[in-house]
Amino acid sequence: MLSAEDNEVLCRIGAGTPMGELFRQFWMPAILSSELEADGSPRRLRLLGEDLVAFRDSGGKVGILDAYCPHKMAPMFYGRNEKCGLTCIYHGWKFDVAGDCLELGNEPGGEDHKHKVKIRSYPVREISNLVWIFMGDENQIAEFPHLEWAHVDAKQSHVTRWLQRTNWAQGFEGEIDSSHISFLHRTMNQSLRGAAVGTSLAPAGIWDDAPELTLRETDYGFVYGARRRADENTYYWRMTQCMFPIFNQIANDVFPRSGRCWVPVDDYNVMAFSYVYNADGPITEKEAETLEAGAGFPPLRDYGPTELDDGYVIDTFISKNVRGNDYLIDRDVQSEGSYSGIYGLTNQDRALQENMKSGFGLGPGKIVDRSSEYLMTADVPVITFRKMIIKMAKDLAEKGIRPAASMDGSLYNVRAISAITDIETFDELLEVYGDECRGIVTPAMAAE
Ligand code: FES
Ligand SMILES: [Fe+2]
Repeated sequence: MLSAEDNEVLCRIGAGTPMGELFRQFWMPAILSSELEADGSPRRLRLLGEDLVAFRDSGGKVGILDAYCPHKMAPMFYGRNEKCGLTCIYHGWKFDVAGDCLELGNEPGGEDHKHKVKIRSYPVREISNLVWIFMGDENQIAEFPHLEWAHVDAKQSHVTRWLQRTNWAQGFEGEIDSSHISFLHRTMNQSLRGAAVGTSLAPAGIWDDAPELTLRETDYGFVYGARRRADENTYYWRMTQCMFPIFNQIANDVFPRSGRCWVPVDDYNVMAFSYVYNADGPITEKEAETLEAGAGFPPLRDYGPTELDDGYVIDTFISKNVRGNDYLIDRDVQSEGSYSGIYGLTNQDRALQENMKSGFGLGPGKIVDRSSEYLMTADVPVITFRKMIIKMAKDLAEKGIRPAASMDGSLYNVRAISAITDIETFDELLEVYGDECRGIVTPAMAAE
């Protein structure tokens, strides 16, 4: 349970809000590289409540600019993307990827005045299939996160995104709510266990609906271990890395390593980015095909313009299973053994998360009512997450304390592992498996 006041702090991410400013301390995934072609169509984004347009110029450089032209606020999306710039088609003002004005089309003597005009732009970095954005103070740019999956060769990772129509915290909390996996995802897990790429599941024969959780706070968030009995002498340990405020990684000691990032679109929508990577070699075509079958992450999805709650349109992937079609729930399948009757892990999650009771703001699912929840010991990671991230946001807002991981990207160079061992305590597991929990990103790789 959370007070209505703290729920506001947790969920509101606009500029000037405590959580909004915390997010602006970090680099965030913005759009897939594959969505942007040189001189191709610009793509509309909304990130942290700000309307933006991304485009790739003739030279291949990516820019993310204000969605609206500074002349008369016309939409840049309809602009002409050519000759190393994006031109607003209302009166011909042209901007480059850095936001500098190249031409003032309708202005006599524009050449002499164009240096005074700028469109808001944000620093971007393109690496390993993704365009990243930093939306904070340009004089205090965060160190780029040393996340393993963000630094491997593009061929070694598979990154996707789709829209979830909830506040960001609902999505993030779902990732660290381990016990729902044994229920909501039950049948999918059983049929996929040990077989699918992109899911990370227990070895055959080991399953326990109520594992014991131990959590340790870290500089970047926390790590927790779920202990299940494997046999008389050993335990099956699964670790989850929770890297505030955006990233997580779920357990696996080999490929496929995977996790999600939750990037707030606005207070009522979040973009889920899913990554799967192989630190030792490329993702094969067959593996990519399995990933795209929709059983795990990502869902089967369409791409195109999608209207948000206030009418603003973004370009995004969106699941074929949505609230309007009841996530294609099949009651016959549900009664014959599938716990949910819904196909695909992320569709199952969204069916629940997008329809939770609303606390304030728009209708169901948007910002959940956390004031009347009944949380128990299985919810310790969620409780800890809220406590820690609200404190981080308040520390920044009230005392100017910047989060450690925004200044030291190497803190993110961690892995989530799983192990079958006779080790009994999580602290001992962390000590013995310490090296395996470190990623491969060296300072030189990070500096490239
Ligand atoms: S509104 Fe864009 S050039 Fe006039
Ligand atoms: Fe889930």
